Amino acid sequence: MPAVRFDHVTKTFRGARGTVQALDGVSFDIEPGEFFGLLGPNGAGKTTLISILAGLAQASGGRVEVMGHDVVSDFAAARRALGIVPQELVFDPFFSVRETLRIQSGYFGLKHNDDWIDELLANLGLADKGSANMRQLSGGMKRRVLVAQALVHRPPVIVLDEPTAGVDVELRQTLWHFVARLNREGHTVLLTTHYLEEAEALCGRIAMLKHGRVVALDSTSALLSGMASTMLRFKTDAALPPALAARARVTGRIVQLKAHDAAEVERDLGALREAGVAVEDLEIGRADLEDVFLGIMGEQG
Ligand SMILES: Nc1ncnc2c1ncn2[C@@H]1O[C@H](COP(=O)(O)OP(=O)(O)O)[C@@H](O)[C@H]1O
Ligand SMILES: [Mg+2]
Repeated sequence: MPAVRFDHVTKTFRGARGTVQALDGVSFDIEPGEFFGLLGPNGAGKTTLISILAGLAQASGGRVEVMGHDVVSDFAAARRALGIVPQELVFDPFFSVRETLRIQSGYFGLKHNDDWIDELLANLGLADKGSANMRQLSGGMKRRVLVAQALVHRPPVIVLDEPTAGVDVELRQTLWHFVARLNREGHTVLLTTHYLEEAEALCGRIAMLKHGRVVALDSTSALLSGMASTMLRFKTDAALPPALAARARVTGRIVQLKAHDAAEVERDLGALREAGVAVEDLEIGRADLEDVFLGIMGEQG
């Protein structure tokens, strides 16, 4: 039995400005114990898929199961198997951190949960914030509480919807350290992000979503090995040698060149030197996900 099953899931939003097909037949399984990445640019449908998984939105078609429980017909069991860290910061400003976590425990019928609550607070760098009021916390601290809240009932499946968008480095590290530990201990993790490096570091498999469709699904290593994932950026006033010009993305004086590995970067720099092209502000970085997508879409057609 998969931990999560998406089976031909569709979602159409109808509004004043017409209809949006947010999901267009999404099917894939996540196996128990996987650290699974759902990647895609803004608007790809990631949050919509997670809202349907969480029972917060209803699919227009298809089925979703969590640990064998249908999220519609068997909602309570499916919800109990899930811990969801939402993309948006939603919280009740009138409660303290500990009260918030006790109330959440109550939703799942857990009365004496303070040992686990203390462990969550300690692991998320919130040990001294238990009695702080939610409205007094910084954005980063609120996000930590949201993570604790999602984990209060020790769900087998943990879902994080862009948990690190706009978040400081320290929180990222705390979060990934803790989530990686939970995954080692057997929890299934579904992470949505548009940071390729995060997914690369953490996820064993990745599905890529674009316009509500799965455009790639494979092990992380298989996906990345086939892609040009290094990006060379520089400024120049000179014309590029034709072989490089054909591969380059040029915006005014800024040139971007994708490469598969360090050797290809060296060859490109050599070609520029030979052609006598003077470069300024040279940077070597990771291709962003948009570039990776362009690569995948290009290969497909
Ligand atoms: N409640 C809604 N009403 C109308 N359109 C929506 C709603 N929620 C999402 N959408 C649209 O569905 C598409 C997918 O959005 P979303 O799932 O939020 O993508 P992502 O999380 O990948 O950025 C977008 O085009 C978005 O504008
Ligand atoms: Mg989203």
